[in-house]
Amino acid sequence: MRAGVIGFPISHSLSPRIHRAWIKAAGLEAAYDAYEVAPGELKAFVEGHRGAGTLRGVNVTIPHKEQALALADIADAAASLAGAANVLLFRPDGVIEARNTDGQGLLEALRIRIPDFDPKTCRVLILGASGAARGAVAAFVAQGNTKVVIANRTQEKAQALAKTFGVSAEPWTSRKIPPGTEVVINATSMGLGDTPSPQLEWPAPSGPGVALDMVYKAPSFLADAERKGWKTVDGLEMLIGQAAPSFEAFFAVPPPANYRALALAALGAPA
Ligand code: ATR
Repeated sequence: MRAGVIGFPISHSLSPRIHRAWIKAAGLEAAYDAYEVAPGELKAFVEGHRGAGTLRGVNVTIPHKEQALALADIADAAASLAGAANVLLFRPDGVIEARNTDGQGLLEALRIRIPDFDPKTCRVLILGASGAARGAVAAFVAQGNTKVVIANRTQEKAQALAKTFGVSAEPWTSRKIPPGTEVVINATSMGLGDTPSPQLEWPAPSGPGVALDMVYKAPSFLADAERKGWKTVDGLEMLIGQAAPSFEAFFAVPPPANYRALALAALGAPA
């Protein structure tokens, strides 16, 4: 059984470390590798694996998530709503199926910090309006939650995304968090590499406040939130949360029960 992850560039992907740790712990005869696929090569890669029995499927990362959905024959509701796929399955019957487990990963990551977290009713502020933000909005809207506010540097993009999902948009410039917000998510690319993280005026949280940064290891966004009394969730939790249902889709068994601890250990991160 083989699976993997495709993206461009791909050498920094942490997915092989997570999936290999689970494969080993589960005692599976399986492999999970990273494949660098340039944007112009995506279609050939996907078609080359159609019904071939070479790969069970792949995780899909930047910049291919939208195109992966377009190339698939069928898609689950989460991928259709997010407009993007992070999983492609090469079924033995030749059908290519797109799924999106990022939304599950996001909600799972939040549940770790707020045990009574209710994705159906919480008030959410999402920073950004590109693919990652769209996925986050879709995750809450799929739960029936429309108490979502989008803020983005280019406000027209925030307004367009808000309109698509029937939620609201706020100007980015205010840096203010709407009163009563319980969850703040950085879904911009700010904090990647050496770029600065978004700076907000963090109030003391009213109730169970939690900040999640989709960028991993970008400490300032979460450090600012923590100083004001917010709970924080690193993007690694979301990565692990999306990987678990991906693993089951590829290998037809769930990862071991202690999957989170195994993944954190494989990534050298504290539990
Ligand atoms: P994409 O090409 O998918 O839009 P991107 O350029 O990496 O990806 O940007 C991702 C998100 O981060 C966008 O919401 C972007 O805001 P804009 O829509 O205004 O471009 C946001 N972003 C990136 N750099 C930013 C910055 N320095 N300040 C504020 N937002 C930023």
